Amino acid sequence: MRRILVIGAAGQIGSELVPALRKKYGNENVIATGRKTPLPDVIKETGPVIYLDAIDKERLAQALFEYDINTIFHMASILSATGEKMPQIAWDININGLINVLEAGRSYNVDRIIWPSSIAAFGPTTPRDNTPNTTILQPTTIYGISKVAGELLAEYYYKKYKLDVRSMRLPGIISSETLPGGGTTDYAVEIFYEAIKHKNYTCFLREDTILPMMYQPDCLKCMIDLLEADNSRLKRRVYNVTGMSFSAGEIASEIKKYIPEFSIEYKPDFRQEIADSWPRSIDDSLARQEWDWNPSYDLISMTKDMIQTLSKRLK
Ligand code: SER
Repeated sequence: MRRILVIGAAGQIGSELVPALRKKYGNENVIATGRKTPLPDVIKETGPVIYLDAIDKERLAQALFEYDINTIFHMASILSATGEKMPQIAWDININGLINVLEAGRSYNVDRIIWPSSIAAFGPTTPRDNTPNTTILQPTTIYGISKVAGELLAEYYYKKYKLDVRSMRLPGIISSETLPGGGTTDYAVEIFYEAIKHKNYTCFLREDTILPMMYQPDCLKCMIDLLEADNSRLKRRVYNVTGMSFSAGEIASEIKKYIPEFSIEYKPDFRQEIADSWPRSIDDSLARQEWDWNPSYDLISMTKDMIQTLSKRLK
């Protein structure tokens, strides 16, 4: 039986991952943890919740012991744009938090840890189209640097301690429940809120900026599929994954099909340079081969679903 600790349950992914995991593994078996942001009611009302800062080793160990945890999703992280404003804090949370989770996991016989990496692990010297799983990793953001270090730690703990850490390089995640905070791909979520609420959006990236993205239902499936993947088929700890790639201009045109009055302006800021250092599209064939990764949503089906779901929610 899985006993799962989700660190960072208030975040964009965590807030929907907890309900998805509770549905599959049972409410009582999924312990949601938060730090600064209050947890959504649906999480508080359906199962155990605790306060936890991953930087606090003792509290982390206590949680693993008290709740008899064998599986950890470590989702707490400072994203790319916020990271550039406070690099030392980003490093502390992203790396020291991860090392604490790995160390605690090893000491308490946790048998599986899922920790997402990101397309931010790539950099300007990486091939930008159809980026392979194994390639040049020379990121230029502190977030990306922390992801590369984390990927290496995942491989290291697996090799040295047989700790079963698994990771996917997530692209921008598009979701309708919880807003992302402090990332470069956030525009692709904000654009829907602004289109529905104000029929207008000022985009912080250029119109022709293409980035890899994934819709939340695929992201949740990705998390659970990699968790459940047969270890004998996995030839590495870190996998490229993607759902779709589009430019800011392309998503705006797709939204206009539903909201014809929608208008968009482009005012690129410091995040443009970050976006320009990341791939435009991702080769995720190894994830497809080794654990049957197979996303469902493309730009057209994602936009349709986002507009429907979010219009209902914002009413
Ligand atoms: N969504 C993240 C960011 O933009 C990428 O992993 O920072």
